[in-house]
Amino acid sequence: MAEVLEAITAARLLPVVVIEDARTAPPLAAALRRGGLNCAEITLRTPAAEAAIAALAAGGDVLVGAGTVLNAAQAARVIDAGAGFVVTPGFSLQVVRHCQARSVPVFPGVATATELMAALDAGIETVKFFPAEQLGGVATLKALAAPFATMKFIPTGGISVGNLAGYLGLPAVRAAGGSWMATASLIGAGDFDEITRLTAEAVAIASGGRE
Ligand code: 3PG
Repeated sequence: MAEVLEAITAARLLPVVVIEDARTAPPLAAALRRGGLNCAEITLRTPAAEAAIAALAAGGDVLVGAGTVLNAAQAARVIDAGAGFVVTPGFSLQVVRHCQARSVPVFPGVATATELMAALDAGIETVKFFPAEQLGGVATLKALAAPFATMKFIPTGGISVGNLAGYLGLPAVRAAGGSWMATASLIGAGDFDEITRLTAEAVAIASGGRE
């Protein structure tokens, strides 16, 4: 559990990936690594997602987690496939309890203070703030985080190179997530060099914002 949090905290970035063909998972992981990242969230938005998670978990090159997990049955399947962490778009106590029972870190999505209180009650220490930009971005996250001194956030939704530094500048932000580094179209086109370039660009911003 601690290693997963350490890796994501150190990276400060979490690529959110929609993958159509599990065979593209290994070159994708290599592209992310060349760009300086060793973690990825594969979303359960395509039939290929589970096989991609299994391939990356077996490869061992990147810390792979599962995103868009909507229920406990899906959580069970992705953990069986090797997911090292689980991300959900909203707050589901059933999913949280399943992950906790299996000692797998889970980052539930929250958009309101009420959902944050539910997450606190469930023993959650890191949440996903989703959809970040659409909810008001950095200003909303800063205000929402203020009463929850111990909570850490992974904002996702509408984040890109243009607004990344603002999110990473908030002390409550553990890492910023998003699909801009490895878009479905770049993966589909096999343009892994561009994924490496976009990843390195984001890593440079994240490193600059560390102090
Ligand atoms: C997610 O699932 O975290 C979001 O869909 C990612 O949002 P983005 O595509 O705007 O980065």
